[in-house]
Amino acid sequence: MAKPVTQFVCAECGALHRKWAGRCEACGAWNTLQEEKPLATGPAGRALGAARGAQVALSGLAGTDAEEPRTLSGLAELDRVLGGGLVAGSAILVGGDPGIGKSTLLLQAAAAFASRGLDAIYISGEEASRQVRMRARRLGLSQAPVRLGAETALRNVLGTLEAERPQLVVIDSIQTLWSDMIEAAPGSVSQVRAVAHELVRFAKERGAAVVLVGHVTKEGQIAGPRVVEHMVDTVLYFEGERGHQFRILRAVKNRFGPADEIGVFEMTGAGLAEVSNPSALFLSQRGQRVPGSAVFAGIEGTRPVLTEIQALVAPSSLGSPRRTVVGLDAGRVSTILAVLEARAGIAFAGLDVFLNVAGGLKVMEPAADLAIAAALVSAREDSALPPDAVIFGEISLSGALRAVGQAENRLKEAGKLGFSRAFGPAPPRRGGPDGKAAEARTAAGGAIALESPP
Ligand code: TYD
Ligand code: MG
Repeated sequence: MAKPVTQFVCAECGALHRKWAGRCEACGAWNTLQEEKPLATGPAGRALGAARGAQVALSGLAGTDAEEPRTLSGLAELDRVLGGGLVAGSAILVGGDPGIGKSTLLLQAAAAFASRGLDAIYISGEEASRQVRMRARRLGLSQAPVRLGAETALRNVLGTLEAERPQLVVIDSIQTLWSDMIEAAPGSVSQVRAVAHELVRFAKERGAAVVLVGHVTKEGQIAGPRVVEHMVDTVLYFEGERGHQFRILRAVKNRFGPADEIGVFEMTGAGLAEVSNPSALFLSQRGQRVPGSAVFAGIEGTRPVLTEIQALVAPSSLGSPRRTVVGLDAGRVSTILAVLEARAGIAFAGLDVFLNVAGGLKVMEPAADLAIAAALVSAREDSALPPDAVIFGEISLSGALRAVGQAENRLKEAGKLGFSRAFGPAPPRRGGPDGKAAEARTAAGGAIALESPP
């Protein structure tokens, strides 16, 4: 038998390399290769699951099981992000920074599903059962029929799951579990991968929904859950600004529902509360007539969400002025600054630019271009935008405005929140040139309709 050689594994994509390199050849990420011992094959009989025959039962396309069985938690924000409830036999990864509220969210979710009749088990590798019970009491969930376990050995976890056959399993967190088949420390890439593999297999074979919690660290000392993203059906990220009370659950991959869907929660002393009207919340602290503030009518997943984009422009004392962007794509902001200068003659040279999305939301839609540009120009000219207007539209490099999807939904949401005007691209007309700005007026019934200028 050949002597085992050390290998290097990329924490981003999981690719194996024979030699260390600064950059992963497979995915192009820098500084992600970590040294690891090769996977131990383990003697016969040490296999974690029972031996199985190699027979595969195949069935045809025509069948009765057209829809996956789903269970609703009753928390509308969570159910929407999952794509309409929890799917049996699916694996879900919930990633997020330490301390952002993952354990709280998943304990509340497990309790909600359990009280809807799912047999749920919450296994913590980070806290003792007593601590989890105390947390549950703080959250007012001590009566929920969720069973708790504190364990870090994968073998014991799987033993329990095989014996109990729950319908929902929460593993908090995947970095704390370890498999005795692998000679690497808990949290290393090969451990995380092996643990995820076994738990995903359990989900598929037993028809259970398995939720894996994964910490994301910046330094990459612990394997980020990136390698696990490919193995699961659904990837959710729990995000928010530390000082803020809002938390956003975002679906970045979902085999059973739309990606990019968000659920909005508010942190309270008694746990996470659902925010069913995020637009109202994100706009609630808006200063009405402040220069540099623009209301963007965006779409997050399947629903319209209005947010305030804030810009501050100030003379710079630096050779290359500052461009500080929070919650927006910095590359797009640079492009918009360049387009404003080249196509509209509005220069930002010698000026520091700060941009921010109020409430800690991340806005990545190209449709935000016009609102960003409006906030920038408003800040630069020190002149407030009309307080009753929402703004949206994509800006092309030529300076033209491009139509964006779901204009009607954006306008409807704006109308609901009391806005009476909208600035955006005219809906594309057959034969007509794209790129004419339009101003909308209030139509009957409070909804806004976009009109092209005559
Ligand atoms: P926790 O759920 O433990 O975060 P994570 O599992 O992501 O590391 O939450 C961190 C701390 O914040 C914890 O002490 C509880 C507190 N917290 C609240 O008080 N209210 C809330 O709504 C949430 C989400 C957390
Ligand atoms: Mg936790």
